Amino acid sequence: MKNIVILISGRGSNMEAIARSVLPGAKIAAVISNRPEAKGLEVARGLGIEALALDHKIFPDRESFDARLMQEIDSFAPDLLVLAGYMRILSDDFVRHYSGRMLNIHPSLLPSFTGLHTHRRALETGVRLHGATVHFVTPDLDVGPIVIQAAVPVLPEDTEETLAERVQAQEHRIYPQAVRWFVEGRLEVDTTGHVHVRDASAAPDGWSVPPVEP
Ligand code: GRF
Repeated sequence: MKNIVILISGRGSNMEAIARSVLPGAKIAAVISNRPEAKGLEVARGLGIEALALDHKIFPDRESFDARLMQEIDSFAPDLLVLAGYMRILSDDFVRHYSGRMLNIHPSLLPSFTGLHTHRRALETGVRLHGATVHFVTPDLDVGPIVIQAAVPVLPEDTEETLAERVQAQEHRIYPQAVRWFVEGRLEVDTTGHVHVRDASAAPDGWSVPPVEP
């Protein structure tokens, strides 16, 4: 059985999508939020998942908070750490500790629009396609080997809200998919930082490129 720990800061809709997707051989061991008021904590408890808060505001600095958070996470012996709307910059120690077993979702087609307000910036820039990316976490913010992406059209009448809604619907599809691949042991990052998804039907040493998502 593989243990998954999910970090959130808010609504937790991605966490919920992952928790509701059937993951044979995996268990959501805990959901942890750095914000005690995060709505996702209640959602997780409603799904029968252990959910706890560790308030970053009571720690003097990022390093001490991350050190404590690592202790908390590691008490659940995670095979995979999933960042799902976790709104904190991670210390280098933290990233190193979970290297190769930490995924994040970012609401843009990386490498476009790293950072915040991605939907607004997509509208301002006039791109015709926008979307979401699941990637392995590396020390640089929103950069890291890309596991899966989904694109949505940007429509002339779009507002930040309507675009966000369309992107989130895709997030809820691709994040559970990426987690499933990880749990199945099918993800491999090569020396150039490209992710390969091993095809279940391929020979043990055969690798396939990730499927193109509509
Ligand atoms: C998502 O849009 C995700 O891409 C970004 O933060 C948002 C979290 O939403 N990192 P939720 O808490 O999963 O509903």
